[in-house]
Amino acid sequence: MKTATGAAPASGGAVSIEALEADYAARNPRSRRQYELGRTVMPGGVAKGAYFSKPYPLFLVSGEGCYVTTLDGQRLLDCANHHTAGVLGHRQPAVLEAVQEQLAQGFALGGPTTVEYELAREITERVPSLERVRFAGSGGEAAQNVLRLVRGWTGRQKIAKFEGAFHGRVDALEVSVGPPLDEAGPQSAPQAVPQGRGFERGAAEDTVILPYSHPEAVERLLMQHRDELAAVWLDPRAGVLDADREFIRHMRLITEELDLLLVMDEVVAFRVGPGGLQEQCGIRPDLTTFGKIIGGGFPIGAFGGRADLMDLLDDARGGTGYMHSGTFHGHPVALAAGLATLRTLTPAAYDHLTALGDELRTEANALFGRLGVAAQAVGDGSLFGIHFTAEPLRDYRSLATADGEQAYRVYLQLLAQGVMLSSGLGMCALSLPMDRSHVAAVLTALEGAVG
Ligand SMILES: Cc1ncc(COP(=O)(O)O)c(C=O)c1O
Repeated sequence: MKTATGAAPASGGAVSIEALEADYAARNPRSRRQYELGRTVMPGGVAKGAYFSKPYPLFLVSGEGCYVTTLDGQRLLDCANHHTAGVLGHRQPAVLEAVQEQLAQGFALGGPTTVEYELAREITERVPSLERVRFAGSGGEAAQNVLRLVRGWTGRQKIAKFEGAFHGRVDALEVSVGPPLDEAGPQSAPQAVPQGRGFERGAAEDTVILPYSHPEAVERLLMQHRDELAAVWLDPRAGVLDADREFIRHMRLITEELDLLLVMDEVVAFRVGPGGLQEQCGIRPDLTTFGKIIGGGFPIGAFGGRADLMDLLDDARGGTGYMHSGTFHGHPVALAAGLATLRTLTPAAYDHLTALGDELRTEANALFGRLGVAAQAVGDGSLFGIHFTAEPLRDYRSLATADGEQAYRVYLQLLAQGVMLSSGLGMCALSLPMDRSHVAAVLTALEGAVG
């Protein structure tokens, strides 16, 4: 078998990981040196754990359109797009201009700026369930604020969330994000497993874990915990799975029936259409969190929804018992970049992105079928993930059957061919400057890697 990198195949046909890592090392000596340098002052050599990838991270120096350039000078087609946040690609002119204008006017001014109203209006006009919105520094911080609101409003402590769902660095929500299956309990009533050490005492006890796409089990668990729950957190799994729209609608119905607050996470899902996934499903969650694309590549989060809940944060009412603060929340540069991004994302832009995403998923699946590879390309709109398993993908447990080693091998082979996906291939995204030729380039590289 001929390999994409020229590395020798291991016995059994697949290229060995050792050969691919040696090839990576030969192509990326500067990244290696930077990594070693970084390790002298930062754990793992990088600014955050999520930047670490095996065998060592690829350091990036610049981005233009849908390409990034590595420290070793390789130009890569960017299908990771900064954890999906970069929907317009790099250095998009309207975003650059908005940022430069804001920088010229001043930043960190220490008071409200008019751009916050502009972005708040843009988002509330797009998303009917948003009667009010506030800004935060990240999607996780938006979730923290919502957690306080729903606990305060209901006087209840517990929340329900889906197994496998990530909502940011919030203890109660970071339970069972990736639990080992031997600790995760039965599928129909998953155990709450903290994602790591150092969690607040009570985080797992206060969290009810739901199995995604299993309506009967979810209904039973919600009935059972109904009187203890402050809210149900819905991650529609956009990009990670094919978001199950019928199930999402069912979640709104069942929470309404049980008189439970529904919080929807649109941090990633807001990429799929002008009004997010909730618009496509025709539902109105009580509260919603946002992040990623609404900051145009700068740190941001937002949360909003029902006016009666959000107005608990209205300081003009006197001591409401709630406080919303954060030195850089609502930073004008992020808001200006986000506003320029959303204004560029016209319905036609979304149509273009979705057509590319559909073509990529359809053709990748046809390729896997032709080659007899047990793999699936899933996702929504411009979001996609590739999972090496024949198991029908519907929830965390079916995703857990995927072959991570094969994903790693393909990740390295794609890099060698100039295509950068997210390191586990599970959360990838296209960007607006791309056209069908870029999708074709991904497919050609994929064929070279799995063929
Ligand atoms: C679905 C989802 N929700 C929330 C978050 C948290 O957002 P942030 O990283 O801005 O805190 C993420 C981050 O990847 C996410 O994927």
